[in-house]
Formats: sequence, C-alpha cells, structure tokens
Amino acid sequence: MFTSIAPRYDLSNHVLSLNVDRLWWRRAARAFADLLAAPNARVLDLCCGTGDMTFALRSQAGNGSARICGADFSHAMLQRAHAKSLLQSNPETQTPQWIEADALRLPFPDAHFSLVTSAFGFRNLADYNAGLREIVRVLRPGGECGILDFGEPKGLLGSLYRVYFKQILPRIGTMISGVRGPYAYLPNSVERFPQPNEMLDRMRSAGFCEASWTPYTFGIAGLYRGKK
Ligand SMILES: C[S@@+](CC[C@H](N)C(=O)[O-])C[C@H]1O[C@@H](n2cnc3c(N)ncnc32)[C@H](O)[C@@H]1O
Repeated sequence: MFTSIAPRYDLSNHVLSLNVDRLWWRRAARAFADLLAAPNARVLDLCCGTGDMTFALRSQAGNGSARICGADFSHAMLQRAHAKSLLQSNPETQTPQWIEADALRLPFPDAHFSLVTSAFGFRNLADYNAGLREIVRVLRPGGECGILDFGEPKGLLGSLYRVYFKQILPRIGTMISGVRGPYAYLPNSVERFPQPNEMLDRMRSAGFCEASWTPYTFGIAGLYRGKK
C-alpha cells in the first residue's frame, strides 16, 4: 500500500495537512534536542517513509556527531528518501543512512540507539506491543523513544475535523495519489490506534518509564515519549 503511494506521498502530505506536517516533524525533533546534541548519539527513525522526520532530526542535530538512520520496509519510499538526501547533503554533517527493515524485526543489536522515533508510522504496525518491545530492545538504557502520530481531537473542533478527515481527505488523497484505498484506510487506522491513556499504559508495560503524551494542534497529532 505504501509503495503504491510513494511517488506522490510528499505532495499529498503537504496538501492534506496544509503544510502543518513540517511544523510537527520539527517540533518533535526539537523535543529531543539534548539527546541529538550528545556525543555518540545514535538515532533511528522508524517507518521513515520519504525521510522528512529523519531530515528534521538531522537538522536539529546540526553539526553534532549524531549518526542518524532511517528505516522503512517500503523500498520505493526509501529510494525517495535517498534521492532527497542527495539534494540536501551538507558536507559538514553526516547524511542519514537508509535501511530497508521491518519495524517488528529490526536488524540491529540490543541497546544500540540513544533515540528511536517514528512519525505517522507506528500506528500502521500490525502489533503495537511487539513494536514497542522491539524499540525497547534496540534502545540503550536511558535512551528515549518519540512516537509522533495522529490523534482524535475532542469538542466542536473535533467534530469538524472528523468531517474533513473521513469525508474530504480520502477523496483528495485518492485524487493526488491516483490510488484508491490507502487514503480511506487512513481514518480507519487512526480509529484503531489506542487513545493516549491506553497507549501510555502499553508503553509502560513494554518497559518505558516517564511515559508522556503532548498534543500538537489541538490533538490532531501528538508526541508520545518514553525513556528506557
Ligand atoms: C504514513 S508513512 C510515514 C512516513 C514518514 N515517517 C512521515 O512522517 O511522513 C508510514 C510509513 O511506515 C512504513 N511502515 C509501515 N509498517 C512498517 C513496518 N512494519 N516496518 C517498517 N516500515 C513500516 C510504511 O512503509 C510507510 O513508509
């Protein structure tokens, strides 16, 4: 499904979110400024798609020594991420590494990363608990995880947003991508995703402490954080 929308993925993202997606990636990256600036920082951006969260982490890390890797199981998405990183490459910073991998079976040793993030990807995993356990496994003790994903805003704004998200967005997404299906799946996948309290419980059960959720843009999206 993701491979089928890869060619127009960036365009649909920016149109459907009215470019607010860029602010969310940057804000999430800023939340981990200390970890990104630390010497020997090793960062994994899971379900990286075409790499926008990965690039936000790279730019937040600046000229620091952070080694940043984006992983996704869609080859087509990674090809786009790689092409974008050639355009954006800065001789003073290391370009991200791109790795084709399933988030549920990561090809990394235990305790390898100081930070693992995932933007709008974690929600798509077939097994959330297994995904969290795999993140805990590859994190160093003291390492942190940041999961940025959609939420369901409440109140009047929530009702208006639901009309947009369920009725209008799937139509525009289908028009831009030329593919029927994925953009109808999007609202369903958000409904299937646990509410913040349940997600925080799952994070604690997987082994995270200091689990928290910060709503972004009235709760349309939000950042889950946890420490190993
Ligand atoms: C909605 S896109 C998000 C991409 C990017 N992080 C962003 O913020 O635009 C979700 C991505 O998750 C990837 N994905 C879904 N399940 C995965 C899994 N089990 N392992 C690796 N990648 C996965 C898809 O291939 C897709 O590129």
